Amino acid sequence: MPTRSLADRVVIVTGASLGVGLACAQAFSAQGCSVVLVARRQGPLDEAMASLAHPERAMTLTADLMLHESPGRIVDATMDRFGRIDGLVNNAGAHFRGPVMSQSADKLASMVDVNLRAPIHLTRLVLDELQRHGGFVVHVASLAGRLPLDGASTYSATKFGLRAFSLALREELRGTGVDSCIVSPGPVDTGFIMDDIDQVDDIVFSQKMCTADEVAAMVLDCARDGSAERAWPPSGAKLATLSYLVPSFRRWLKPMMRRKGKRAKDALKAKRNSS
Ligand SMILES: NC(=O)c1ccc[n+]([C@@H]2O[C@H](COP(=O)([O-])OP(=O)(O)OC[C@H]3O[C@@H](n4cnc5c(N)ncnc54)[C@H](OP(=O)(O)O)[C@@H]3O)[C@@H](O)[C@H]2O)c1
Repeated sequence: MPTRSLADRVVIVTGASLGVGLACAQAFSAQGCSVVLVARRQGPLDEAMASLAHPERAMTLTADLMLHESPGRIVDATMDRFGRIDGLVNNAGAHFRGPVMSQSADKLASMVDVNLRAPIHLTRLVLDELQRHGGFVVHVASLAGRLPLDGASTYSATKFGLRAFSLALREELRGTGVDSCIVSPGPVDTGFIMDDIDQVDDIVFSQKMCTADEVAAMVLDCARDGSAERAWPPSGAKLATLSYLVPSFRRWLKPMMRRKGKRAKDALKAKRNSS
């Protein structure tokens, strides 16, 4: 499989101040890329930039992806500073937990805006540049984009949508030199679930948890080799797909997975309380 060199590339990473996005920004910078770090709060962005191997080749940009004007601002600011765009990592995500009936219409719309509308809009705006330089777009989805997750139906729907967008776009881009890739992790050890652990469904913890650095490594591997999708853990990804294809199997399996997840979650909480 041909591999793309990452040195001297200009890469936009959304949600780059914390968690997976921060790990991606650090990893691309360590490869000699110029990185544009996007998030809402300047303080965490400053700390993230200071942690890069090459902060002198990076810039931060505060933008809220719930707002429709943000993708255009991000692209304009990147072109003003670097004059080119080689890669985009659509990583920022929002998850307001609970059943649909417990959510306001605004919160549901915000989840769709951050997780699906903004990534599609940003991708559309950078495609000309990516085609000029043989670039890539990597979308950070979730195993919830391979398995319908009740109690998180809108989040799950946005991740299914993002995955479908990436796979379909990939076909549209065949022969252009641009790759559209997807990374689908199970639970990741970041504030996204750990700061909110009591609200997170036990079933989420039934899968082996990975680190932000491990997800970033999958993102970089996709950027290099243009693979359609990487998912983690591999057994969890296969089980998610099988459960999606056979709903009766999913209903049968769910109580067991929930019990397994509760045990893992209790162990994580006990470890946190003892440290
Ligand atoms: N952690 C998991 O268990 C897990 C599992 C599967 C998939 N994922 C996916 O992985 C991605 C990264 O998650 P993470 O775990 O790294 O989350 P995280 O640690 O909570 O970091 C989220 C990042 O996104 C930024 N962000 C949030 N809302 C934003 C908005 N409206 N506009 C712009 N930036 C925004 C945050 O900064 P500000 O708050 O300053 O904006 C922060 O930089 C998400 O797409 C998530 O769905 C996570």
